[in-house]
Amino acid sequence: FSLKALNTFNVQANAARYVRFDEPREIVDFMGRNPLGGRRCLVLGGGSNLLFVDDYDGTVLHPMLKGVEVVETGRRHIRLRAMAGENWDDLVALTVANGWGGIENLSLIPGSVGASAVQNIGAYGVEVKDVIDRVEAISMDSLENVTFAPADCGFGYRTSHFKDAWTGRFIITAVTFTLGRQPELVLDYPGLRTAVDELGSRALGTLRQAVIAIRQRKLPDPAVTGNAGSFFKNPVVDRRTLAGLQRVYPDVPHYPQGGDRFKLAAGWLIERCGWKGKQVGRAAVHDRQALVLVNLGGATGREIFELSEQVRGSVHARCGIELEREVLLVP
Ligand code: EPU
Repeated sequence: FSLKALNTFNVQANAARYVRFDEPREIVDFMGRNPLGGRRCLVLGGGSNLLFVDDYDGTVLHPMLKGVEVVETGRRHIRLRAMAGENWDDLVALTVANGWGGIENLSLIPGSVGASAVQNIGAYGVEVKDVIDRVEAISMDSLENVTFAPADCGFGYRTSHFKDAWTGRFIITAVTFTLGRQPELVLDYPGLRTAVDELGSRALGTLRQAVIAIRQRKLPDPAVTGNAGSFFKNPVVDRRTLAGLQRVYPDVPHYPQGGDRFKLAAGWLIERCGWKGKQVGRAAVHDRQALVLVNLGGATGREIFELSEQVRGSVHARCGIELEREVLLVP
């Protein structure tokens, strides 16, 4: 089964087995009849944060569960439950159209609702974990429905237990969000306030429009150029490491994280190492945002992986910083 149309890098890879589900019930039935018994499986969402390096010799499980409903209406908030297979940005558009605030800064992020929780997606000053009320899943072991409060999910910068410690243990079926009915806009990202004000009103719709414009300026559209957004995470380092870097690069951007921790901009480091816009075979480092690797057309997963390793090696050699992948590598 070809996975080419199901990954935003648009690389060709075949799965040994592919199963699509439209209802939670089908997942339970299938898993009951076909216990994985230790064999590899991969739960696919929008395919926008992974790289197939080769063909996949396991089973790809693809929940396409659809549906969005308001499950609670308070004076100041609503709770919105969305099924995991809903498209993320369609959900954002729906919330903005209804005047429900909380996820508008996360406009135009590719992927599914389920993946938003796996990843703890974030952009322009907002992380999805801050508006998640609960995550519903099916346990692969017991086939029971389980519900997690955000505190159980191990959310951190671009991660959760679903992405690391719990890999392969749950299939997320739905995510419920708490959204504000009198939204307060988050405008701290550099340039965002001005961009919104230039559009003439401080409304959810204008904020969405401003975010979309910023993203379209910097990030390639996966429908046109294969990519999976930021390939690496922004590294967090201690004061000594930062000081060492500042001796060589006095202008290195850094963002205090509290205590002795500082976040660096991986894109800046990659650009400084000379990679921005560089092409190797049919893979390249994006010319407007060096944190993004792109498929210029016909690249294999392996070519993109090899480019990423060259980038990583060079940032390590030049800056002494070990970049960690943000994209899930599927070997
Ligand atoms: N920079 C460069 N050169 C580059 C890219 C960035 O010098 O090629 C500098 C920028 O000038 C800026 C700093 O690095 O000073 C940060 O850049 P930017 O604000 O564009 O964001 P980022 O840190 O590169 C992160 C997220 C993005 C998210 C933006 C906006 C991660 C891994 N990436 O990127 O998320 O959209 O912030 O909030 O945290 C994604 O996860 O796929 C993604 C696109």
